[in-house]
Amino acid sequence: MKILTIPATNSRDGINRRLLELVGRRLAALRPTVEVELLDLNDFEMPIYSGEREAAGIPAEARAFYDAIGAADAVIISYAEYNGSFTPAWKNTYDWASRVDQKVFQGTPVVMLAASPGPRAGAGVLAGATTTAPFFGAELVGSLGVGSFHQIHDPETGTLGDPEISARLDALLELLIAAVDDA
Ligand SMILES: Cc1cc2nc3c(=O)[nH]c(=O)nc-3n(C[C@H](O)[C@H](O)[C@H](O)COP(=O)(O)O)c2cc1C
Repeated sequence: MKILTIPATNSRDGINRRLLELVGRRLAALRPTVEVELLDLNDFEMPIYSGEREAAGIPAEARAFYDAIGAADAVIISYAEYNGSFTPAWKNTYDWASRVDQKVFQGTPVVMLAASPGPRAGAGVLAGATTTAPFFGAELVGSLGVGSFHQIHDPETGTLGDPEISARLDALLELLIAAVDDA
């Protein structure tokens, strides 16, 4: 089982990447045979989308991003929230990929997460992402926001010091594994 994890930010050392590194360890504990890949949006950086640029050709990075999703059995995205919405790095990559094919997620089971420094837990960006997910071919398994990340994440152990959030995250990952098993 191959699970692709994507921090939806171009921070190389950000909190959404931290959350997904933790998710990778939880997945390995729950299903030792799982193969987890952590994608870096910086590897897919493209000019800001425009119709004129598309007319000149869709960048190879857009196809590579689309193909990375297509090669996975499941996808877990963790959205950074900028001004209540997506980061420009995610939006641009996603917009270009949607020009390869609007069904960016290609029928893949998807879990949507968000980590935020404040207590709102990325509520705005998660609402936008989950509401639109079905239009882009996502089999949405569930979502979870992790707020006050710096307070509850222990960088030394790489764990979350909030038992309720940890249990909800594990439950979501179990659901995702079950969705792949059933597919
Ligand atoms: C332009 C900008 C806008 C932001 N807007 C929000 C916001 O609306 N809600 C929020 O919780 N955090 C907001 N933040 C803080 C980010 O959530 C924070 O920088 C976080 O670390 C980003 O995730 P990352 O570290 O995974 O890149 C904003 C940060 C920037 C730079």
